[in-house]
Amino acid sequence: MIEAVKASGLLGRGGAGFNCGLKWELARKSSGDEKYLIGNADEGEVGAFKDRYLLTHDPFSLIEGLAIASYAVGAAKAYIYLRAEYHFLFEPLTLAVKQAEELGYLKNLNLRIFEGAGAYICGEESALMDSIEGRRGEPRCKPPFPTERGLFGKPTVINNVATLANIPQIILKGPDWFRTMGTEKSRGTKVFSVSGDVERPGVYELPLGSLLKELVVDLAGAREIKAVQVGGASGRILPEPLLDTPLAFEHVLGSGAVLVFNRNRDMIEMNQRNVDFFNEESCGKCTPCREGTEVMKEIFGRLVRGEGQEEDLSALGGLASAMRQGSFCGLGQSAPLPILDSLKYFKQEYDQRLAQSRYLRTLKIVK
Ligand SMILES: Cc1cc2nc3c(=O)[nH]c(=O)nc-3n(C[C@H](O)[C@H](O)[C@H](O)COP(=O)(O)O)c2cc1C
Repeated sequence: MIEAVKASGLLGRGGAGFNCGLKWELARKSSGDEKYLIGNADEGEVGAFKDRYLLTHDPFSLIEGLAIASYAVGAAKAYIYLRAEYHFLFEPLTLAVKQAEELGYLKNLNLRIFEGAGAYICGEESALMDSIEGRRGEPRCKPPFPTERGLFGKPTVINNVATLANIPQIILKGPDWFRTMGTEKSRGTKVFSVSGDVERPGVYELPLGSLLKELVVDLAGAREIKAVQVGGASGRILPEPLLDTPLAFEHVLGSGAVLVFNRNRDMIEMNQRNVDFFNEESCGKCTPCREGTEVMKEIFGRLVRGEGQEEDLSALGGLASAMRQGSFCGLGQSAPLPILDSLKYFKQEYDQRLAQSRYLRTLKIVK
């Protein structure tokens, strides 16, 4: 099974795109007879709702994927880590697990649903394990990676819901079937959640390598696009001329949350909301992320109030690169990405805010 998943080329659908079969193999080879499997259903990314769709409409794909993965890795216990905001799914999921148990599909697996408590950081795999262990979720130092020392110190595989939902089909139809879809480096299909300024927001599944415009224009019905953010609040911002970009790990992808902004949207206000979110959700463990998001929040607040300073833009650029290089985990490393992209593609909007701030200052002096 591990060979089949490796041969399929399936990459993790949770954002980082790690090779799924390779992860399983690492855990399989780790010493110890107690191992864990975790289905990551935290889905905290802004604009992400693909896992919710799968959990609601196709829970058995996840359960079957977890059963296969646990068998392949040698795990007798598995968890579905369900985000607190999806509490309404707890009962239906529990029922689905019970049905699978009663039909004898989970004979060798103790599968439990664990509800999170509402923290974005707990989607990060090591913080998630802290959370299951009953501690406040904070990212752990890696290495050791979870496949070596994970939940309760035991080898653990953590996969995204959508990754696991691919597994039954790969085993059923074979890796060659899976490889017929997608690109050389990104095999298969991907489920996207599209929201924002579109006529038909929703969940779409496309072969990887499809163009961004096929998703947002042809399927979701976006018009007069200014920019599209691919990967949620921490994802890349692509301006309208880049809509021909293929949706693939080697180009742009992330978690599958796609947010569309039309020409009436203000990129400074949009980034302010992002920064406020990350400031709220930063776990505070490392200084670049804890303090960086705080100062960014202050800067965007000033820009929006018309109190921007000339040095604010260079400070933003400096902070962004310090956070990218110095943050402990993916939260602080990726939070500045949309700011850097907007400074690159929409610099004129920052300049306008600064010009407005200068004008307001002169008014105050005249008064
Ligand atoms: C701040 C942060 C939040 C994350 N949130 C999620 C999440 O909600 N769901 C998810 O599957 N992965 C999330 N991830 C990625 C996980 O750490 C991990 O890479 C993923 O669950 C592995 O599964 P995959 O290989 O199947 O993609 C997050 C990562 C970071 C840094």
